Amino acid sequence: MGLVTMVEILDKVHANGTAVPAFDAIDHASVEAIIKASESINKPVIIMVPEAALPLIDVDNYFEYLTYRLGKTKVPVALELDHGKSFNVIMKAIHAGFTGVMIDGSDLPIEENISLTRKIVEIAHAAGVSVEGEIGHVAGGEGDMTEGSEADENMYTKPEDAKRFVEETGVDALAVAIGTVHGVYKGTPKLDYERLKKIKNIVNVPLVLHGGSGVAKEDFVKAVENGINKVNLFTEISMAAVAQSINYAQKKQNKLHFAELVLIANKTVNAIALDYLKLLSLDN
Ligand code: 13P
Repeated sequence: MGLVTMVEILDKVHANGTAVPAFDAIDHASVEAIIKASESINKPVIIMVPEAALPLIDVDNYFEYLTYRLGKTKVPVALELDHGKSFNVIMKAIHAGFTGVMIDGSDLPIEENISLTRKIVEIAHAAGVSVEGEIGHVAGGEGDMTEGSEADENMYTKPEDAKRFVEETGVDALAVAIGTVHGVYKGTPKLDYERLKKIKNIVNVPLVLHGGSGVAKEDFVKAVENGINKVNLFTEISMAAVAQSINYAQKKQNKLHFAELVLIANKTVNAIALDYLKLLSLDN
């Protein structure tokens, strides 16, 4: 199976009204844990690398590892650059063999977002790479570990903007702002399902929910039932892996091998990824 285009995975879940989780992963242990989870129940998955986290990574080596490793999986896997903002980084991901890129122009005025996104779509499609765009704006840190944020209704996606954006850019998937934030929440997320339904009725590409961490399980199910096809997750998994590793180290009074910590992190990521893979395909 191995690496497939992002649209190949998204078109299937779009057609059958389910969703696929997309996990940001910026270390080898997490990638292996996610692959193991998806292979164990034979479900496709999307692995993402957020542009904001690149300073933490040996980028060339990591990209080479990802394209090699994901090329050998037993399930279809797509590899996406998450929250691409810089033209050069997007080009680097395409050249490295990523099968999807997100161009995030969501903090630009709509005209500029449309023209930037359309330009990336032209280049990426010529290389056989799928593109996700964003209209409206999901607040919070996009791949970094910022303080908690609150959703701002003024930045939610307007259905008529979503329709225009998709028609004029040719994106393969659309990230919508309906009440989630990236990273840790301040308060409790409250999703705007009426808005989601309106967008779903007039937009015919898969819809993406960013800021999955902190959303209640029943909200995910409702979001998928109302039109979400891809859910982006990062903070919850990364923080859980750290918390479990620290816990374990404390129990062993810090007398342990580094590999033991990596194993704990790997198991934590595996368990959470498995839960989401089952939950979002609505057959948990
Ligand atoms: P969380 O870190 O809130 O799970 O969001 C991840 C995300 O949306 C990445 O695009």
